[in-house]
Amino acid sequence: MMSIRKLLADAVELVSGRATALLDCELLMMHALGVERESLIVNSDQEVGAVEAELFYSYVRKLSEGMPVEYLINAKEFYGMDFFVDERVLIPRPESELLVDMGMEYLRGLLSKRAINVVDVGTGSGAIIVALIRQLMSEGGDMVVNAWGVDVSSEALEVAKMNAASHGCDESIHFVESDLMAFAEDGEKFDLILANLPYIGEVKHRYISKETEDFEPGIALFGGEDGLELYRRMFEQIKEKGIVFGEMLGEFGFAQADDMRKVLSQYFDDFEILNDLAGIERVFRVRGGA
Ligand SMILES: C[S@@+](CC[C@H](N)C(=O)[O-])C[C@H]1O[C@@H](n2cnc3c(N)ncnc32)[C@H](O)[C@@H]1O
Repeated sequence: MMSIRKLLADAVELVSGRATALLDCELLMMHALGVERESLIVNSDQEVGAVEAELFYSYVRKLSEGMPVEYLINAKEFYGMDFFVDERVLIPRPESELLVDMGMEYLRGLLSKRAINVVDVGTGSGAIIVALIRQLMSEGGDMVVNAWGVDVSSEALEVAKMNAASHGCDESIHFVESDLMAFAEDGEKFDLILANLPYIGEVKHRYISKETEDFEPGIALFGGEDGLELYRRMFEQIKEKGIVFGEMLGEFGFAQADDMRKVLSQYFDDFEILNDLAGIERVFRVRGGA
């Protein structure tokens, strides 16, 4: 039998190419033992049982093969909240928190309304809509919130439902399996449309790490030749169905802003592109006027 300290040291050596080797191995050890970080430090000389040690090694082997640590520990923090993640969903990225902040900024102006309708298209783990609804619940008093989390992947929706339930907002969010806005009625009205659709280009704008390509679901990543195909289709649906909205916010990728502007200008008059905290053009805002 080996101590926590020795097991960790061996594991870190095995994955030493990773910038976050020690942190990742500690997270895996915490997960294998079912303990908090503090306990690892305080009990670092404690011996680890054979079953837990084997479990820990199995995680480290997968980590060394490139599997993201979030899938191994089934957790990712987003907007200060813990979300369950596995290979059915994209791991929520910190930059997508901007959509929650900007969505909240818009909805704060509507807090005097009796009911608010919000949709998150391509909801994945549900991180964006769950974080937004939690925030709204904490700020919005007794306003009625009708929220939709939409995804074409039934597997992703299973994860999203779990996350909504674990954060106590499953009654406010309807999860719908749909191709983008196909579920919406003609002329339906939404106060806010949020979308973080797949935007990696198959040919142009093909910025993707090997880890992401190997392990995260392809359906959550690729958006046609230039990455913007799903946005074009969603805008098309919105126009064809005569969907009315107050504001629409969407995330896109590195260096895609000029192409995004061209696409937006084919469908809408009143839009702007905004930077993320790193100063990179990252989000579009369309004012629908409703
Ligand atoms: C980039 S991920 C974003 C997931 C989540 N919103 C987040 O920010 O972490 C894109 C999501 O869009 C979904 N998706 C892909 N094609 C779709 C379509 N045609 N209609 C609806 N959702 C789609 C994928 O299944 C995936 O969950």
